[in-house]
Amino acid sequence: MPRLIVVSNRVADIHSSNAASSGGLAMAMAGALKEEGGVWLGWSGETSDDGDGPPQFSTVDNVTLAKIDLSRQHVEEYYNGYANRTLWPLFHHRTDLTSYEQSFSESYLDVNRTFAQAIRSFVKPGDVIWVQDYHLIPLGRELRALGVDNRIGFFLHIPWPARELFVTLPQHSDLVWSLFGYDLVGFQTEKDLMAFRDYFQTELKTQQDDEGLIDLFGRRLLARSYPISINPSEMAELSNTETAANSFRRMREGNEECKILLGVDRIDYSKGLPNKFAAYNRFLERFPERRGTAKLLQIGQPSRSLVEEYQDLGEELMAEAGRINGRFGRLDWTPLSYHTQSYGRDALAGIYRAADACLVTPLRDGMNLVAKEFVAAQDPADPGVLLLSRFAGAAEQLTEAVFVNPYDKEQTAEAIVQAIDMPLDERQDRWRAMFDTISRSSLTAWKNNFMADLKNEDRPETPDRAE
Ligand code: G6P
Repeated sequence: MPRLIVVSNRVADIHSSNAASSGGLAMAMAGALKEEGGVWLGWSGETSDDGDGPPQFSTVDNVTLAKIDLSRQHVEEYYNGYANRTLWPLFHHRTDLTSYEQSFSESYLDVNRTFAQAIRSFVKPGDVIWVQDYHLIPLGRELRALGVDNRIGFFLHIPWPARELFVTLPQHSDLVWSLFGYDLVGFQTEKDLMAFRDYFQTELKTQQDDEGLIDLFGRRLLARSYPISINPSEMAELSNTETAANSFRRMREGNEECKILLGVDRIDYSKGLPNKFAAYNRFLERFPERRGTAKLLQIGQPSRSLVEEYQDLGEELMAEAGRINGRFGRLDWTPLSYHTQSYGRDALAGIYRAADACLVTPLRDGMNLVAKEFVAAQDPADPGVLLLSRFAGAAEQLTEAVFVNPYDKEQTAEAIVQAIDMPLDERQDRWRAMFDTISRSSLTAWKNNFMADLKNEDRPETPDRAE
């Protein structure tokens, strides 16, 4: 029986309801694989002193986990280095934070080869391979070089960068060439797809046909957008658990007269947390009559703490939260609660539901599943308001959110007022429209659409492969 083989850098605990801190990808893939069954291969999270290890297999329900230990040098240069200090900042348009270190790119290729060899050792004819995210762009090419001719798809969870920035990367053409090892490449949004198209039209003088097919480097690639999502019924179920009810009650207790503004983000510079704090500070400055009537609860989930920029950001946020509380706080009111612990998804469901508004204000984000989870967890009779950055991928779909430009603290401060004052019927109308969008475009639909395009037997093969 042909299997689905999912490959990602991080393999999540498939049963854990815990910690959105592992990010949207891990939660989404755990959800998708539980439905379909299959194999999930990735880094174990462990460092080995004897080089990269062979895959260690274990089985949880209908999913076989294949975890690989990586050498100390590879963890440093592939994960902390090329993935998180080169591609992540560049694809989030932070060339000021991008490292162009050559040794990082060598380790990146080495690890992709390690993964390719591991897959080669157990892949069977007919298996479909689905590679996830920026850590593994070259994996398709490496598999082809080992003679694997199965269908292989790739999905990028983060934004595709603007061409002018992407070409600053010395390996830009190698990365794009690598993508042609896949049969299907998926992006989060139409904007990402357009940026990708701009690259190969301008740099490679090649067009995409009306179907989304591109013929280049002797291969045929289909490139489309598939916005990732959540299963809203799962969030609704979680909000009915006892843990959710407890967190809901504890959030509301003592806050009967106070509106709760919520933020839930990994501590990452792409999430625009200093901008959010600055906008909240501006809201308190400009609207003194609002002091004591609202508070911001920001949950910051620690992330990539071995990378210096992340450590600096963590410290900056602590200091800024202290400054805001020192300046505006009163005996009976703390304007900003900043927590850095992780919460399970069931507790989060209650926290989302208890909030009057959620501030999702990244500077640049592939999709942002917090925005979708917040909407799905609301009580239809009294839903909270979503404030959403126009720079989150989710903004392409959740068009009834209150949009903010996180760089503009005046406008964001005004949007906070708008959210606090929004009448019930408007909150319900906006919520209903967004909930319908998420229900139509669920995680299950995302997986099924991608898999249908990847498996599509009617699609013409690349001429040289068909021979
Ligand atoms: C983003 C990325 C994921 C990554 C997650 C958490 O969502 O798209 O690939 O897994 O962040 O980051 P981490 O480095 O902890 O895996």
